[in-house]
Amino acid sequence: MSATSRIRNEALRSKIMSAAEAAALIPSGSSVGMSGFTGAGYPKQVPIALAERIEAERAAGNPFRIRVWTGASTGPELDGALAKADGIEFRLPYNSDPIAREKINKGQMEYLDMHLSQVAPVAWQGFLGPLDVAVVEVTAIREDGSLVPSSSIGNNKTWLDRADKIILEVNAWQSEALEGMHDIYYGTALPPNRVPIPIVKADDRIGSTCFRVDPSKIVAIVETDIADRNAPFSPPDETSITMAGHLLEFFSHEVKKGRLPQNLLPLQSGVGNIANAVMFGLKDGPFENMTAYTEVLQDGMLDLLDSGKLRVASCTAFSLSPDAASRLNNEMADYRGRIILRPQEISNHPEVIRRLGCLSMNGMLEADMYGNVNSTHVMGSRIQNGIGGSGDFARNAFISIFMSPSTAKGGKISAIVPHVSHVDHITQDVQVIVTEQGLADLRGLSPKQRAKVIIENCAHPTYKPMLADYFARAQQGGSYGLQTPMLLDEALSWHNRFVQTGSMLAE
Ligand code: COA
Repeated sequence: MSATSRIRNEALRSKIMSAAEAAALIPSGSSVGMSGFTGAGYPKQVPIALAERIEAERAAGNPFRIRVWTGASTGPELDGALAKADGIEFRLPYNSDPIAREKINKGQMEYLDMHLSQVAPVAWQGFLGPLDVAVVEVTAIREDGSLVPSSSIGNNKTWLDRADKIILEVNAWQSEALEGMHDIYYGTALPPNRVPIPIVKADDRIGSTCFRVDPSKIVAIVETDIADRNAPFSPPDETSITMAGHLLEFFSHEVKKGRLPQNLLPLQSGVGNIANAVMFGLKDGPFENMTAYTEVLQDGMLDLLDSGKLRVASCTAFSLSPDAASRLNNEMADYRGRIILRPQEISNHPEVIRRLGCLSMNGMLEADMYGNVNSTHVMGSRIQNGIGGSGDFARNAFISIFMSPSTAKGGKISAIVPHVSHVDHITQDVQVIVTEQGLADLRGLSPKQRAKVIIENCAHPTYKPMLADYFARAQQGGSYGLQTPMLLDEALSWHNRFVQTGSMLAE
């Protein structure tokens, strides 16, 4: 079915135009709120046309850059194209596009990394300035002019409400059966008018299935049928499978101790291959009737839904391989009662995460022996992606778990270090660390007790003696106090050694 037939409001059909015509409505220097979250539901035609325009303007001697606000990462047609055209002056929040990452790390693009739950409230508070244009992908426009969201919700509600002008991309690639899957909550407010968010179970529906929008703000509608960026997952490798095994054993132990119910608590699973492997592991595990209250739905979680072991998943976006995306698209109507897509302000809301008691599982770059975690900056200064929702979940989860292989770069880097080179998650927000070597349960432990368990259970055998030696010397002298023994000169020398010699291993 064509995109035109999805524009069910007759009056709005007069706004249909080409992507180039729509891109011409975006002035240089604008703040543009784009849809999109982990490669799902981002606009695909207007950003490309805008990138072409930016290049043409520059060739004609007119510098042209915009400020880009999104939900999280998007796709090559958006971040990739605009960054390549050098058209982004400032961007927020999470980014995983390699071209944008290079621009940021070369100091050519300003990047604001934020907790994903906080983007919408901060926009409402006015700290980001006015929003000139919203460019939002939708599945359809209803007869009454309301919008059927696409494969992610992200910050779209806020962009549509705050922008002066709205450009819509109606994407016929998205399944029409998405209609009814979304839950758009309009009850958020700023203090002192905030009220409790009435979600007490992962599958509670508290909003409407569409976006309300002022039709007079819609200046352009562009039709498209381009697929989401659905990157394939590598099949779980031995390291991920081993980590998943440690985690499943831990969950079983917690159930046996009576600290977790038989069906666990709502799962939150982060981005990447390891998180995906844990979901695959749960499929063969002993837990039934599980629920998920999470940010993204990856292949492993879709499989878990198929297996019947996961009853329902609440999220803000899909993040699927091409195979899983077409499976979902073909059977969307069947999944509709079991998947709920919410604004990221709600999928990641600290109040709800704390109330539900999520089991939060996220990847990390490195952890230190006291349990501080670095999710974002390689060697302290180079941004990898961003904090995403990991902080929203870690601080508020029932159990906050961070996972990584014990080494990176072929063993030249230890993921367990004396002191992380950048802190995203402080030790108080980190309860469990998992590597392929084992699992460290840090609950109830003091810093020195944590160090012993982390070194013993999580460090790679190559680095364990170096870490144990550092810890022993830090306790013997040279440390200013013995609460968190630290040899400051030496703590970051591990990272310096890598920067200078390409390996953390001592000579
Ligand atoms: N030191 C230096 N580099 C490291 C490293 C370390 N300790 N650990 C990993 N790396 C490098 C890898 O070598 C790889 O480099 P490459 O791109 O040049 O190959 C890169 O960092 C990514 O590592 P990878 O093992 O592929 O990571 P991943 O896909 O498992 O993702 C994070 C790990 C931390 C980057 C990812 O989980 C993330 O972005 N987290 C923050 C956001 C988040 O948690 N979101 C979910 C919340 S809902």
